[in-house]
Amino acid sequence: MNRVYIKTYGCQMNERDSEAVAALLRARGYRIVQDENACDVMLLNTCSVRDMAEQKAIGKAGYAAQKKKRNPRFLLGILGCMAQNRGASLLDALPDVDLIVGTQKFHQVPDYLDNLRAAQAAGAPLPTSIVDIAEEAGSQNTIRDHVLEDRQVTAFVSIQQGCNMDCAFCIVPKTRGDERSRPMEEIVRECEELAERGVREITLLGQIVTSYGRRDYAHTDGVTPFVQLLERVNAIPGIKRIRFTSPHPRGFKDDLIQAYGRLEKLCEYVHLPMQSGSDRILKAMNRPYSRDRYRQIVDDLRRVRPDMYFSTDIIVGFPGETDEEFAQTRELFAACNYDMAYIFKYSIRTGTPAADMGDQIPDEVKEARNAELLAILQANSNRRNATLLGTTQEVLVEGPDKKGLGFMGRTRGNRIVHFAASDRLIGELVPVKIDRVSTAVLYGQLELAGVKV
Ligand code: 5AD
Repeated sequence: MNRVYIKTYGCQMNERDSEAVAALLRARGYRIVQDENACDVMLLNTCSVRDMAEQKAIGKAGYAAQKKKRNPRFLLGILGCMAQNRGASLLDALPDVDLIVGTQKFHQVPDYLDNLRAAQAAGAPLPTSIVDIAEEAGSQNTIRDHVLEDRQVTAFVSIQQGCNMDCAFCIVPKTRGDERSRPMEEIVRECEELAERGVREITLLGQIVTSYGRRDYAHTDGVTPFVQLLERVNAIPGIKRIRFTSPHPRGFKDDLIQAYGRLEKLCEYVHLPMQSGSDRILKAMNRPYSRDRYRQIVDDLRRVRPDMYFSTDIIVGFPGETDEEFAQTRELFAACNYDMAYIFKYSIRTGTPAADMGDQIPDEVKEARNAELLAILQANSNRRNATLLGTTQEVLVEGPDKKGLGFMGRTRGNRIVHFAASDRLIGELVPVKIDRVSTAVLYGQLELAGVKV
């Protein structure tokens, strides 16, 4: 039996990589299952960005390895960032892991599983674990296959791998390697094919999408390759919405800011990682912008789109962060009025410059700073949702909601909306009048003149 359960930790990029692995495995005759208790192969696609993410996956792998006692054919694999980061040393703690596959080798997973199965079938004792964390030229082009659910409306498209920014706190340059972009033609073709299969919203993914293609394509009239790509996707008739993540503030030059005024499918939602509001800390983080420059980008974007939604990433407790420096972050955080934010307590990542900096901040201080920002975020989010009450929002209908009570979709500002609808409307942009809000979600009624739901 070849039932594969894939568990994904971490970012959207990881989700996308898991999906591509699932598509390849299906094509090879494996069955992808959602129930981890009914699988013969478990693959953990891991995250290294904070210690907690690694510990979770290690705990899960240790637990899953016990399945081998009951099922000698059970196979366990660790894929992705932690596999890349720790390689064969993972076997010290987890000797029963059969497969360790890094971030440039996802496409090899079917071959490796086939090899392990063949060895089992031959009755041979399993070879020592397979470990492959090598670099591979062109590996960014291998994340292209999709497993679309029936009537899936949204999809992720990987446009680039790796990052050359070297932020002092970040393990990603080590786990994902150098920045490498996919050819624009291939990305556009993938989006066109997705549109033909019913996808209406594309999220372009990369570790630093604003740098997309910078070594491969020229600027045209001051327009960066990334914005050229946005223009190309905007021109695909079946695609109705475009999002992207994650950009870098340094990528928000005039061409990208203006794109929000002229590309009608580009949703007015920007994830703009701030990390810190202190110039000294930003410098120590090796983030090449100041708090004033960051604020200016937010203001410029709001000038082009007054209804712009913003989200951000913040790290509290970076080594040496004083109370005054944190107060500057808090002040800028409040001033930017975010609709959503991911607030992280600094986590030491061995091998990064910040790991060796003195003056690590105690956990209680990180916790308190984290809580202060969360309280501001919650107030902002409630305030924003209150302003949406009574308005009519354009919603892309994704499908039945989880409870099966009605349907769900998202606004252009990425707010989840629940409403009554019908299957017929899946994939359509519909007006929904918001009549109730909570912190996390909106509720409303379809406003379709003359259309019976
Ligand atoms: N500790 C805490 N947060 C981190 N991030 C990256 N590295 C670390 C770290 N060592 C956060 C950053 C980044 C997000 C994906 O994760 O805010 O933008």
